[in-house]
Amino acid sequence: MKIQQAKIYGKNELTSSPTSELDTAVLLQHITGFDKTHLLLNRDYELTQKQEADFLTAIEKRKTGLPVAYITGHKEFFGLDFYVTPDVLIPKPDTELLVELALDALEDKFRAKPDAIPTVCDMCTGSGCVGLSIAKTLADKAGEKKETTDYTDYTDYTDYTDSRRLSFTLVDISEKALAIARKNCVGLGMDTANFHFIQSNLFENVLPTFDLIVTNPPYVPHSESLELLKDGRSEPLLALDGDVDEVGEVSGTNDGLALIRRLVPQCYEHLNRNGVLIMETGEYNAEETAKLFKQAGFRNVKIEYDMNEMMRDVVGVK
Ligand SMILES: C[S@@+](CC[C@H](N)C(=O)[O-])C[C@H]1O[C@@H](n2cnc3c(N)ncnc32)[C@H](O)[C@@H]1O
Repeated sequence: MKIQQAKIYGKNELTSSPTSELDTAVLLQHITGFDKTHLLLNRDYELTQKQEADFLTAIEKRKTGLPVAYITGHKEFFGLDFYVTPDVLIPKPDTELLVELALDALEDKFRAKPDAIPTVCDMCTGSGCVGLSIAKTLADKAGEKKETTDYTDYTDYTDYTDSRRLSFTLVDISEKALAIARKNCVGLGMDTANFHFIQSNLFENVLPTFDLIVTNPPYVPHSESLELLKDGRSEPLLALDGDVDEVGEVSGTNDGLALIRRLVPQCYEHLNRNGVLIMETGEYNAEETAKLFKQAGFRNVKIEYDMNEMMRDVVGVK
């Protein structure tokens, strides 16, 4: 089978996917090791027997609804490559806003106190995509700073950004998710010794307080989570369903906010004075989440909009 034929085959087989052409192209890139351009320029390349067999298997998996990222084991997020399995939510483009807001908040902190070493917690870390993207961006900026003779561009960043001095805590209730976050930490070329990986039900096993807490908790209403999973996406219910109680049981509410109601006051308790909380929510419950921030004592509470102009993140200061 030639690449051109494989593309037609994929498009015809994946009729239930709205992105059948893209899915086929990404699967072919993964299987051949070609990049996007190479794939386009080599339409007459004949797949090896193994490549053809892998391709046909991948198409069958995709037909069950399994996302391309779980088939390839990779998802790009914030320009970085993350390893993913059905034990973690696939990082979503909307969540990149959380990373941008966190980097802005840290820049403000570096500006206010150049010698300080802010401590950061990524609660509900999953694949680690949020916390690790923040850490990697800061470490890369520090690397550039060292390599350049023009220090003026980097005056906002102190030596805190040196990868040896990062202070990040990544928390998840799922041991399997934490193992993946660790693997991603290594994959991104960072030293796991600089990170604390804690298995915990929210802050139950987390002792320290932080200058910044970022979190993308489960916030989808219970009934909608069950409905979403019917398409065969295989994402963990634990990562979606926001209507769970302290022990992870169905809480009886159906607004996606049961976990967030417990999480917001716990974040307040675990922030230092002037500490910042940035939380992703559903556009349908961002306003309610902002109310919960205010009730917990947060000030300067603000809702931030994502690239689709949907209410996506709530920010508050202790
Ligand atoms: C929406 S996913 C976010 C994953 C990742 N941060 C991202 O943005 O792609 C929520 C994560 O919260 C974790 N989680 C669910 N309940 C939790 C709890 N009670 N305590 C800590 N983590 C929890 C899930 O295991 C899942 O990894």
